[in-house]
Amino acid sequence: MIILAIETSCDETACAIISGEKGSINILSNIVSSQIKLHAKWGGVVPNLAAREHLKNITPVIQASLKKAGLTYKKIDLISVTEGPGLIPALLIGVNAAKTLSYLWQKPLLGIHHIEGHIYANFISEKQKIKFPVLCLVVSGGHTQLVYVKKHFDYEVIGQTLDDASGEAFDKVARILNIGYPGGPPIAKYASKHKIRYTKDTLRFPRPMLNKNNFDFSFSGLKTAVLYETKKNPELLKDKKYIASVCYEFQQAVIDVLIAKTIKAAGKFKPKTILLAGGVSANKELRKQLDKSLKKFMPNTAYRIPDISLTGDNAAMIAAAAYYRYQKITKMRRASIQKNWKKITADANLKMK
Ligand code: KG4
Ligand code: ZN
Repeated sequence: MIILAIETSCDETACAIISGEKGSINILSNIVSSQIKLHAKWGGVVPNLAAREHLKNITPVIQASLKKAGLTYKKIDLISVTEGPGLIPALLIGVNAAKTLSYLWQKPLLGIHHIEGHIYANFISEKQKIKFPVLCLVVSGGHTQLVYVKKHFDYEVIGQTLDDASGEAFDKVARILNIGYPGGPPIAKYASKHKIRYTKDTLRFPRPMLNKNNFDFSFSGLKTAVLYETKKNPELLKDKKYIASVCYEFQQAVIDVLIAKTIKAAGKFKPKTILLAGGVSANKELRKQLDKSLKKFMPNTAYRIPDISLTGDNAAMIAAAAYYRYQKITKMRRASIQKNWKKITADANLKMK
């Protein structure tokens, strides 16, 4: 079947077309129009500006997606859209576009949870079937969660951040260091340049919640530790070697906590597969170090990571989740989603269920 998906929950206007057949998903087109440059000067996403850009870009992005896939709308079997969570003004543009197309083209419509999409990015072009139960470490700009997935769409959030998400911490620390937005890529780049400790005293940031007997996270104290450190010697902020050492230590603190909690959760829940998902999963050190730890502590558990091109926000992941959801809908209910354009609404705080 052919699925067209739309994603506008934050600052990327995205449309993708996939074909899904017998549990195998192929991307026919995956267009992402990023607004990063627009928001960078504000150091974060401005919701109304994002909505204005989505409105400008949504039609050309959908047209480009159809063109790249070499299809007309007639070939589409299902439309899907991110209905939440996210920024309401941004979500509304994608949801209304999807509803309009569903009505106009007479195609069924499914609403998808954004984080579910990130998880299902792992199911695209999979070389080996992912075995359940799955434990997924979700690390994005808005979420940091450990999700136990017993089978398709049977989720239990077993731990999550009590304050900032991990991506948010990367963004805030990059802002403190004045090295750009979004913060993940520049921090990772500086961290990779840090070879030896720059200062004689060893720069050390806390590993929050590391020894707490649960699977929750907290990153706001770590961000504050970076702030205090840089306030001690503001003139050092001009020194690239110092920035590199702060980035290295901050990134390592985040990675240490993420890995320790994932291993601990895996020990308790005994999943067959561990997945990584969300924008922060682009972080090469996190990918590599988690692999190393799992090989050491969980040698019999499979480890999967999404293709780097599918870690950030995109619509192919939304289409992938829609494909698996559609498989679970009975023939009788399939008729009812034909009229879903009447029902689906954007929900900023949508829960995953
Ligand atoms: O999943 P995503 O694209 O959007 C949300 O759903 O929030 O995640 C965006 C987040 C940003 O906070 C960004 O700084 C972070 O992902 N990110 C990274 C890297 N690339 C993007 N964080 C760490 N290392 C990276 N290489
Ligand atoms: Zn996302």
